[in-house]
This record gives sequence, C-alpha cells and structure tokens, in this order.
Amino acid sequence: MTERWTPSSWRQKPAKHLPTDYSDMAALERVENTLRSMPPLVFAGEARRLKSLLGEVADGKAFLLQGGDCAESFKEFHADNIRDTFRLLLQMAVVLTFAGGKPVVKVGRIAGQFAKPRSEPTETIDGVTLPSYRGDIINGMAFEAAERAPDPERLLKAYGQSSSTLNLLRAFAGGGYADLYNIHRWTLGFVADSPQGARYRELSSKISEALDFMAAVGVTPDSHPDLRRVEVFTSHEALLLGFEEAMTRVDSTSGDWYDTSAHMLWIGERTRQPDGAHIEFMKGVKNPIGMKVGPMLEGDELLRLIDILNPKNEPGRLTLYGRFGADKIADRLPRLMAATKRAGRAVVWATDPMHGNTLKAANGYKTRPFDRILSEVKTFVEVAQAEGVHPGGVHLEMTGQNVTECLGGARALSEGDLADRYHTHCDPRLNADQALELAFLVAEKLKSTREAERQAAAS
Ligand code: TRP
Ligand code: MN
Repeated sequence: MTERWTPSSWRQKPAKHLPTDYSDMAALERVENTLRSMPPLVFAGEARRLKSLLGEVADGKAFLLQGGDCAESFKEFHADNIRDTFRLLLQMAVVLTFAGGKPVVKVGRIAGQFAKPRSEPTETIDGVTLPSYRGDIINGMAFEAAERAPDPERLLKAYGQSSSTLNLLRAFAGGGYADLYNIHRWTLGFVADSPQGARYRELSSKISEALDFMAAVGVTPDSHPDLRRVEVFTSHEALLLGFEEAMTRVDSTSGDWYDTSAHMLWIGERTRQPDGAHIEFMKGVKNPIGMKVGPMLEGDELLRLIDILNPKNEPGRLTLYGRFGADKIADRLPRLMAATKRAGRAVVWATDPMHGNTLKAANGYKTRPFDRILSEVKTFVEVAQAEGVHPGGVHLEMTGQNVTECLGGARALSEGDLADRYHTHCDPRLNADQALELAFLVAEKLKSTREAERQAAAS
C-alpha cells in the first residue's frame, strides 16, 4: 500500500519530540495558516544549487563546512552575532579551501535553528516540575510556568528573526564583507594573538603568499568579483514539523515540493524512525537533507533509511553526519561506511564531532573537551580513507563570540573558566578561537591525506 505524500502526511505517523501541550490548539492552527501565506525564506533554485554543490562533495571534489549555534535564541539576536558567526565560517573556509585544495561549501546552522529535542519532557528543580525548554520557537528558557508553556506566537517570531538573519547574511555574502583578502587579514590577527600561533603561522603565511601572488598577476577582488562574494546557505534541524509544513511550497518551475524555511534540513538522531513523522516529512521535500547517524545504528537500518530518503540515489540529496564520540567512532563508523560503499549509495559522509563528546564538568556545566572533538574529526578522516570514502565535511556547534563553553584549545580553557561566559541555550559551542584553531588542525590532517592520495595516484 503506497499512501500519497503531502506536506501534512506526517500527521498520520507517530511523532517524537513534538510539543503536544499547547493550551490553545486553534491559535496554533491560526499561526500555521498565517505562515503558509508568508514569503518563502529561500527559493527552490537555491536549494537545487546547494544540492548540486553537495553532489560535488559526494564526488570528493568539494568539502562541506557547516556550523553555527546549537540553538539560536531570541535573546542573542544581534547583528554583531550574525556577523561574527559569518566571519568565523569564512575564516575557517579559507583555511580549509587552501589545505584541501578544493572548494568549501559553506552552510550555516543559522536563520532557523530554534527547536530542540530534549531527553526529558519535564524538568524538576527544588520540587517544582515544569515542561522542559524546547527552544525559543516553542517555549522560553526561564524556569517559570508562563515561560515554559508552549506559545504559538513564537513561530511567527522565529520566522521574523530567520528572515532578518538571512537578509543580513545575504548582504554580507554579496556586499563586500566576504572579500577573501579581508577575511584572511582577520585570520592573521588571530594567528598573531594565539598562544599556539607558531603552529598556525606556516599555513597562514602560505595563504598570504598565494594571495600576494594572485594580486601580483592581477587577480584581485576588483578584477575578479568572485573573490569578494560567497555563497552561504542556511540549515537547521527539521524538528518542529508544523512550522516546516507551513513553509513548504510547490516550486513553479519543477512542480516539486520544497521546504522554503532553509536551503538544507536535517533529521536528528532521536527522530529518524523509519516509520516516524520526521522521515515521512523529509522524504517528500526536494531540498538537500541530512541525517545524524549515531553509535546504535546498524548498516542494514542505515540502508533502509537511505532508500526511503534518497530512492533515486541522487548525489547531494543526502548527507550523513556521524556523531559517535571520540571513543566509539573507530569501532562504529567503518562498518557503516563499508555498508554504503558496498551498496553503491551516493551519500556525503560528514562528521559531527560535537554530540558524542558531551560531558558534565564537576561543577555541573555541560561541556565538551576540544581534544576529543579534534580526535573524532581525525579518526573520521582516517576511517574514510581506509574505507575508500571521501571525508566530505564537518558539522560544528560554534559561535563567533568569545564564550567559555568547551574545554581546552590553545587558551587551555579549564572547568573553572566555564562559568565566565557560558551563554548557550542548549549545548556547549566552540568559541571563535577554538573553532578557527580546529580548522587549522583539520587542515593539517586534510593536507596530509591529500598528499597521500597524490602519492598513491602517482605510483
Ligand atoms: N567566492 C570564492 C569561494 O567562495 C572565493 C572567496 C571569496 C572566499 N571570499 C571568500 C572563500 C571567503 C572563502 C572565504 O570560494
Ligand atoms: Mn546540539
């Protein structure tokens, strides 16, 4: 029996992690109807463009860099935050482009990353039990009954914030801020200030030399406008399906359905049941999509999910993000990569080195050690190489702000430092220095892989 897919067919399936406790369901429906008539945030042609770029990634000809907040919030909505995350993403992209010798596809976890799955539906503090915080698009973070009650108006606010964020990103991407020379100058500043600067100087000097050479032969942002602009795409977890459904439109050129809330959407580890609502929704929209893959998944189940989500085996349609933890990846990833490789499935294999490496510090803060994050990325690259699969990209939780949420890095952030600037609305993010440092270290790894590939090709 094949049932027809519609943007609302997910409503007939069991759904996990969706709020069911709105006090006024009619108000929610009204808001969803309002959203249905709002302009799309992105258009289908852009999503198709990203899909074709991800097809290049699947083919080993490009690298995916995806990053941003774990959860965006209404409170931290400032132009400076958007600018700083954008700049950081580009700084990392320059380093990775140079080291990998391939274009980097730049995707923000931004302009719509508002809904969070939570392990417990409720939270109890001093004998008081309230619904858990589920992200600003659903309820508020403060531990008060009124804040924790889901509020439909929040969907409209999230739409509005996503729209202004995207507007600013588009301006930065096309309006001169993304100038390659400019972005690299910021990185030189970072290298000069970093306690580990000596380690990054070699690579950054080589980039400087390459840029000087290009300028000397007349390749400058003035003569080549592409050096001044970038394509930046948006993405978020497609968790709150009522919102995603309301943003889904038929594309007039192709007649296909696109979720116009972002260029790319992904399915979380906790909502990827083959018969569940989230898979049902995602299978019908034509955007490029992602899926998180954790240590419990077996190869046959993965292939089953791939066949549902990408039945035509289109490269660029589906990106898999392994999220195992530094201690588990070497055991779990090889068999999954071998399964997709053996079955000839054209997927992008990427790594999310954040979610398997979360721990609780002695003082109660949820944190992640930089070394474990780096270790998971390195193992990912090694396993991919051993399995004959392209290490396609990284998916990071990071911010352009100088927060103190993850341990370690060149400044050796300690447990005692966490309290200083711990601002995240959900999981701990790499701060700007840690993220750029990670890019340098991943670049070293990619560079050695590239040299090994070149030698193998020559012999
Ligand atoms: N447009 C090119 C690209 O996206 C070059 C470029 C311009 C660039 N500004 C950049 C690359 C900033 C990385 C970061 O690759
Ligand atoms: Mn997270």
